[in-house]
Amino acid sequence: MANWTPGTRARRARIAVFASGRGSNLGSLMSAYPRGADRAVAMVISDQAAAPALERARKAGLAAYHIQFPKGGREAFERQAAGALAIGEIDLVCLAGFMRILSAEFVRERFGRILNVHPALLPEFPGLDPQRRALQAGARASGCTIHFVDEGIDTGPIIAQARVPILPGDSEATLSERILAAEHRLYPMAVGLVLDGISRPVP
Ligand code: GRF
Repeated sequence: MANWTPGTRARRARIAVFASGRGSNLGSLMSAYPRGADRAVAMVISDQAAAPALERARKAGLAAYHIQFPKGGREAFERQAAGALAIGEIDLVCLAGFMRILSAEFVRERFGRILNVHPALLPEFPGLDPQRRALQAGARASGCTIHFVDEGIDTGPIIAQARVPILPGDSEATLSERILAAEHRLYPMAVGLVLDGISRPVP
C-alpha cells in the first residue's frame, strides 16, 4: 500500500473492502465512495468464493478477488492479499463482515490503514454474536462501532459509534437489522473522518 499516510488528509484514496458474506456494508461504502471518484472503493477481497459481496463487486466492475483461507492457511491468504493490495495501490482497508482474524504482523504493518465495523458498542460485547449477547444481558441499548484494527479482537482505537435502542420484544433479528441500518450510515462517515486526517490512529 500506497500513497496516503494515516493521520493526514487524502485527496485521493483507493479503498479495499474485505467481506465474507452478504456485503451490505460494502454496498453502502460503494455508494459513498463510487468507482472513478477521487476516493473510491476499488477492490473487494473475500475468503468465500460464493460471497454475495464478490458478486456485488463484479457487477460494479471492481477488482474482486476470492482468496482461500483454509484451516492453517492464514499466511498464504495474507501473502496473496498483500500482493493484491500492493498491485491495486490500496490506501485503506475496510473489514466489513470479514469473519477471519488477521495476524498481528499483517495488522501491525498496516496500523491506521485497516478499519472494522462491529455490531455493538465496544468495548462491550467484542467477538461473536454481540447482538444476541446484548439481548441476553438485558441491555437497554446497543449499536455499532467503527475502529482501527489492532492486534486484538475488536480492541483497536474507536473512530465512531452509533447507539440504537433495544426495544421490548426485540429478537436477535430485529436488533441486528436496526444496528445494521446504523452501520450503513456510520461506516462511510468514519472512513471520511479517517481520510480527512481528523480521526488519527493513536495506538
Ligand atoms: C455486520 O453486522 C457487521 O457488523 C458484522 O457482520 C455483518 C456484516 O454484514 N461484522 P454485511 O456483510 O456487511 O451485510
